[in-house]
Amino acid sequence: MPPLPPGSRQPAFLQTFHMRNPVRYFETLRRRHGPVFRMKLLGFPPQVVVANAELAAEIYRVDGEGNLTGALRAGYVPWLGRHSLLTNDGEEWWRHRKLLSPALHGKSIASYPELIAEIAAEDIEKWPRGKPFSLREHMQTITLEIILRLVFGVRDAAQGDRLRAALMALSKASGSPALFLTPGWVRTWADRSPLALRLPFLPTTRAAKAADAVDDILFGEIARRRDEADEKATDVLGRLLRARDDQGRPLSDQEIRDEMLTLLEAGLETTATGLSWTFERLMRNPRVLARLQEEMERGEEEVYLDAVVKEALRSRPVIFGLGRLLTKPLRLDAYEVPAGWVAIPMFSLILQDREAYPDPGEFRPERFLGENTKPAQKSFLPFGGGRRYCVGAQLATMEMKVITREVLRHVRLTPANPASEAQRMWHATLIPGKHAVAVAREQPLKRQQPAQESKCPVHPVGPEQGR
Ligand code: HEM
Repeated sequence: MPPLPPGSRQPAFLQTFHMRNPVRYFETLRRRHGPVFRMKLLGFPPQVVVANAELAAEIYRVDGEGNLTGALRAGYVPWLGRHSLLTNDGEEWWRHRKLLSPALHGKSIASYPELIAEIAAEDIEKWPRGKPFSLREHMQTITLEIILRLVFGVRDAAQGDRLRAALMALSKASGSPALFLTPGWVRTWADRSPLALRLPFLPTTRAAKAADAVDDILFGEIARRRDEADEKATDVLGRLLRARDDQGRPLSDQEIRDEMLTLLEAGLETTATGLSWTFERLMRNPRVLARLQEEMERGEEEVYLDAVVKEALRSRPVIFGLGRLLTKPLRLDAYEVPAGWVAIPMFSLILQDREAYPDPGEFRPERFLGENTKPAQKSFLPFGGGRRYCVGAQLATMEMKVITREVLRHVRLTPANPASEAQRMWHATLIPGKHAVAVAREQPLKRQQPAQESKCPVHPVGPEQGR
């Protein structure tokens, strides 16, 4: 029988302690043990980690054969409910995936860039000039506004304020590292125990209470939109209300509520973090920034901008890795991983693989241009892979490109401190350690776009009437 993969012999509590700096810890284990190694963290099932795209493909193969990916995630995000695309498996997951995907792809989102640019421009106007500020906070504001208007389709200003406040409170309560590192079984107990739910200082109680506050608003909004029955609304909520499955069944209010929170949970911090890193990298790589600006001045930036965004996601992955809970043994290289283990394609290692990305520490968007694209693309897994590939990847990439372009059209950014910012763990993401601190100076690009009539693609009446 093939052996188990090699791995650390340290006790689980010490291995868990190293997770304060996951990127460095995974890199140390990879150097010591090679591209497949095992880990044991306190309160979690045993894990096997892989560090290249070929081995990741072996893991993704189990997506077609059934595994418990959703169940594995459910323990971390109980407030998403039992219908969430993130936390479901099997038939129900597939039904929801088919209902949600069309609302987040292709033609459904083709009209979004204009409003995304408008939302970004409104916020950029408010940025301080000439003194340091956190770009990440502003990226969170912009991406939240995008979710409110393009995903939730909120038009009423007061309702927008209420939902914004409740969602921010939920995002804060649910993003704490204390919650992330609490073992699943403790969280499950704390979420169900009336005693635990009376202890306001527990991170689980704070997250549950914040989710209740969001529910109050969200169910009201769903009911209002059902009454309104707007057949033309192009926001994601509007599309989900109209969606029908293979048997002609609509999604229930509870299903829609769970999916709306899922899109927020999966799409808010991730996109804001991807953008923060894009600027953190651009500011420290003047050659790349200058080339992007030159191409923008000529109006020919589309291809290079796409490569810049990809290189940002490669060099600073937002999520370090997401795994699959195995229901049967998996052969990986010369090893066998038992059922009940979690197999993780570790993006932070795969995206630094020297074979796929020579000089991986360098920020070089040219890897994704011309002939180089194919090998670079093969290992490009910041959005995961297999059947559970990020359903919001197209929207996220579009947001990142439109907002990056909008920022560079308005201001020149320099880093407040020339040293690169460290990758710091925040929930399941890696954020810039100092929240991407920048100094902005007024410097509109030479090429100016013709002024355009502002028009909301979601509700053709125009955003100004509802805000
Ligand atoms: C830069 C931004 C983003 C990154 C880096 C990211 C990354 C990921 C990753 C790594 C996964 C797991 C894939 C796997 O298990 O193989 C995932 C899943 C998912 N993402 Fe994203 N994501 C981003 C933005 C978004 C956005 C904007 C949305 C929606 C509005 C979204 C919705 C989802 C959902 C619902 C899933 C679960 C899919 C499933 O299990 O079927 N993501 N994302």
